[in-house]
Amino acid sequence: MCHGVLYGLVFDGDLPPQRGRNGRQMAQSRDERHPNSSGKGPGQHGQPPIRTRRSLTHVGGAVETEGDPADIQKLEFALQVRPSTDQEDDLTRAHVHGFHSYPARMHPVTAHRLARGFTPMGGRLLDPFCGSGTVLVESMLLGLKPTGFDLNPLAVRLARCKTTPRTDGELNHMVGQASECAAFADDRRKTKAGASRRFGAEDVALFEPHVLLELDSLLEGIRSLGRDPARTDLELVLSSLLVKLSLLQADTSKAVGTRRLAAGHATRQFLGKARELARRLAEFRGLLPSAAVPPAKVKQGNATLPAEVPAGPFDAVVTSPPYAATYDYIEHHALRLRWLGLDTAALEHGELGARSRYNRMNPQIAGKEWVGELTGFLRAMCGVLKPGSPLVLMMADSALGQVALRADELVAEAARASGFKPAARASQARPHFHGPSSVAFRQRPRQEHAIVLRKA
Ligand SMILES: C[S@@+](CC[C@H](N)C(=O)[O-])C[C@H]1O[C@@H](n2cnc3c(N)ncnc32)[C@H](O)[C@@H]1O
Repeated sequence: MCHGVLYGLVFDGDLPPQRGRNGRQMAQSRDERHPNSSGKGPGQHGQPPIRTRRSLTHVGGAVETEGDPADIQKLEFALQVRPSTDQEDDLTRAHVHGFHSYPARMHPVTAHRLARGFTPMGGRLLDPFCGSGTVLVESMLLGLKPTGFDLNPLAVRLARCKTTPRTDGELNHMVGQASECAAFADDRRKTKAGASRRFGAEDVALFEPHVLLELDSLLEGIRSLGRDPARTDLELVLSSLLVKLSLLQADTSKAVGTRRLAAGHATRQFLGKARELARRLAEFRGLLPSAAVPPAKVKQGNATLPAEVPAGPFDAVVTSPPYAATYDYIEHHALRLRWLGLDTAALEHGELGARSRYNRMNPQIAGKEWVGELTGFLRAMCGVLKPGSPLVLMMADSALGQVALRADELVAEAARASGFKPAARASQARPHFHGPSSVAFRQRPRQEHAIVLRKA
């Protein structure tokens, strides 16, 4: 299999890099370079070290492995990525990847290497927990045929937006509509038009009053677009700005601080972000292997329900399921889901591993519950994967109370109950930031695992 020069990046070929006799990887792959990078970024040649950022910061380190040597080599290669940085040319923020934040995104280089290593050329790949669409984007760059699936309606919209190649005409139209919405909001601000609706207490607490009014006007402008194709993109543009324009201190925090934003700032940010999205989409289109690459198929549904899962057969599944008891996607996205008016009922009932639900459980039975949820998911995948094909998972350990939920062990148990055989695993230590449960990882550190199962 040779996918050649894609992603605007030069690959080392179709196999992981050569190893030394001690089995350690010899050199950092060149496919981590940014398309426009000379490879001489800050932090080299005696410059100050690069500042690291966000969840993709905590990568790297020794790799523990078991299973099939050929699979292990691909998994290890996928894990050997550099921490993300604040630099503009950081790969985790390249083209469409950098448009909108999303919790627990997969590192794009890991996604790229897993998709390339485990899917035949031109094959059909399924990501049943596609989130913001990282695996789908990378699969398109490899010339694969990706299908994405997620229960979170925001994820579905975001993944569709990022994986639908647009013409220049469509991008210009989107920016033109953004200008109209911005002009509408400016006009309402200058004429002190007031609010178009009554705001809930949550929004009043989260935004300065004049920012809330501007956001309200922008949303009114976007909604007035009706069925215009630019509408969903512009809703996502607004969504990408909501936390930054609120008093929330961070995307992942409920803490509220102070922020003084000038009149008109929210509207200027909106227009700037719409232009940025157009630029990112154009850059992504330019990296695709041909002008005729179709959009990824993206659908909303529950990955444990066979009737909802997209029809197969797929050549590979590459995905990162939620980590048990770690996130509440519904809570995390509450602000965005509310402003976009998205229906959250399915996510409320079907979110796998949701922290709020697991936190109410006895830690001793949480492992069994998690195996049950994973078994449901794997059985659904068994129905759509070709026999012998790989199902590749990126998953981290978590903890409940003082009990560690070891993802590798629990996945192996679920695999045996659902028609899969554990084929290989590569695991790297990851920090655990939750003080009260740190005792769970005293004997053996918390790890992130790249796992291959094969359909029996
Ligand atoms: C770790 S995130 C995936 C992140 C993604 N790989 C990315 O790079 O953006 C896990 C995803 O699983 C989704 N999810 C949770 N429960 C689900 C279910 N029952 N069916 C489908 N998706 C679900 C969440 O909405 C979330 O987007």
